[in-house]
Amino acid sequence: MQVAVVGGTGTLGAPVVRDLVARGHTVRVLSRSAPAEPVPGTTHHAVDLVTGAGMDAALEGVYAVVDAASHRGLRSARVMVDGVRTLLAAEQRARVGHHVEISIVGCERVPFSYYRTKVAQERVVTQGPVPWTLLRATQFHELVDEMLGGASKFRIAPRTGMRFQPVDVVAVAGRLADAVEAGPSGRVRDLGGPVVQTLGELAELRRHALGQALLPLPVPPVGRIVRRLRDAALCLDADGETVSYDYAEWLRRRYSKPVS
Ligand SMILES: NC(=O)c1ccc[n+]([C@@H]2O[C@H](COP(=O)([O-])OP(=O)(O)OC[C@H]3O[C@@H](n4cnc5c(N)ncnc54)[C@H](OP(=O)(O)O)[C@@H]3O)[C@@H](O)[C@H]2O)c1
Repeated sequence: MQVAVVGGTGTLGAPVVRDLVARGHTVRVLSRSAPAEPVPGTTHHAVDLVTGAGMDAALEGVYAVVDAASHRGLRSARVMVDGVRTLLAAEQRARVGHHVEISIVGCERVPFSYYRTKVAQERVVTQGPVPWTLLRATQFHELVDEMLGGASKFRIAPRTGMRFQPVDVVAVAGRLADAVEAGPSGRVRDLGGPVVQTLGELAELRRHALGQALLPLPVPPVGRIVRRLRDAALCLDADGETVSYDYAEWLRRRYSKPVS
């Protein structure tokens, strides 16, 4: 099958590309910049979700589009909400048969601007002109690691009860590839990692894995976002599916050191 992966150079997009290629699909990688290490057998097409540049040519003859693009800055709505609208219009012109979208477990429960953007993006896709599949996943281990890595640069480890259920991005990529093959299926089962842990516990795992001396910084449960996160708003509900390994195992693989 001819598949385009928008954001195919990103944390999620790159493993989606590799998975689809391994399954024998013909994959086009769509993003503004070409991948540093292209996956053999794929072609890169320069597109910009904000301007729509390059989209019509990139989607010619494509059956399914996976949208794994993201922008976490001030322009997130322009890239992900207006951008997906522009993308869907281009898909409609190209007669694409299936749009696969990734979103975030509990995004409607946390009043954070990026999550509001995801809710709006979901609405555009589910009310849009192209038959769709929508998968929600919890935070990738890479994101948790980036947050804690940022704090550790200031020699700090947050001590907080905010809870997360980080997931292996390769497992999420696999579900998106499954979705491509299954055809338009609407909202599919939410996906998360095997363990719910506080950010304080995750910080402690990382501190131990990297052997760092960090100052524990208590984060008071002040503000709606912090309180919602403490109430596990971004974790799976009972009907979600847990997959793969936890952050301790991710740390072990990433930093090649045993974690107790
Ligand atoms: N990170 C998480 O923990 C997590 C958890 C659940 C769901 N998700 C969702 O997964 C998706 C991917 O997230 P990610 O963390 O993998 O993102 P990422 O690593 O930041 O990758 C973003 C991708 O989007 C492309 N992109 C950015 N702006 C673009 C534009 N204007 N036009 C075309 N392409 C553009 C980037 O390439 P260029 O910059 O070269 O254009 C890159 O390939 C997002 O929808 C996110 O909400 C993420």
